Amino acid sequence: MPLIRLDDVHLNYTDTERTVPALRGITLDIDAGEFVAVVGPSGSGKSTLLNVIGTLDRPTRGRYAFEGHDVSKLSDNALAQMRAARIGFVFQNFNLIDHLTVYENIKLGLRYRRDHLTGQRDLVDAAMDRVGMGHRADHLPRQLSGGQQQRCAIARAIVGNPSVLLADEPTGNLDSQNAQQILGILNELNARGTTVVIVTHAPSQADQASRIVELHDGRVHISSRRLS
Ligand SMILES: Nc1ncnc2c1ncn2[C@@H]1O[C@H](COP(=O)(O)OP(=O)(O)OP(=O)(O)O)[C@@H](O)[C@H]1O
Ligand SMILES: [Mg+2]
Repeated sequence: MPLIRLDDVHLNYTDTERTVPALRGITLDIDAGEFVAVVGPSGSGKSTLLNVIGTLDRPTRGRYAFEGHDVSKLSDNALAQMRAARIGFVFQNFNLIDHLTVYENIKLGLRYRRDHLTGQRDLVDAAMDRVGMGHRADHLPRQLSGGQQQRCAIARAIVGNPSVLLADEPTGNLDSQNAQQILGILNELNARGTTVVIVTHAPSQADQASRIVELHDGRVHISSRRLS
């Protein structure tokens, strides 16, 4: 069973004026342990696809199963629980909470869990160490560089040990050196077993993935696995 299975998935954005078909029949399996790069022109549906995979949006039509669970059959509540426990998100603009410290921001990644508080402290410490932010635990986001903010956001996304990490242009606001450091962290997480799906415009990053999925106009144009 693949970790992620999309079968003829369509997603329309609809308002009173018009309907935008953002995904137009996506069929795609992603196995546990893959490192997938989603590429394609602006407007081709990359972010929309990531939102569907992350269960933030439900398909308008077609089937989506995450870890064998048909997403259309889960209540909003059940979906939120599953998302909190199994899926980590990283965004281009970091999305950290300004008035919380690095430690507190990362701890937010555990807010739906019922671990004992001392257990939570260990998990947050471990996540901070994995991204090399242990020495900045008490800093606020505005006291950090962009690369450090993104490392903090990654720690928040992985602190609960999700099965998949979804990253939408995570290095879009970073210089090349910080971008490569972030890629290194994602590669390391993948080597330890986390499935990673990243949206990127950088060919050098896509080349580091085990598979490239190229979208055109809401459809999969090319899906190629790298021979290794
Ligand atoms: N909330 C929304 N309401 C209406 N249309 C939307 C919405 N979000 C995205 N779209 C449209 O859906 C299509 C796909 O958008 P999406 O954001 O997935 O593209 P993308 O590949 O991520 O582009 P980019 O590389 O610019 O981030 C576009 O035509 C976009 O205008
Ligand atoms: Mg996008």
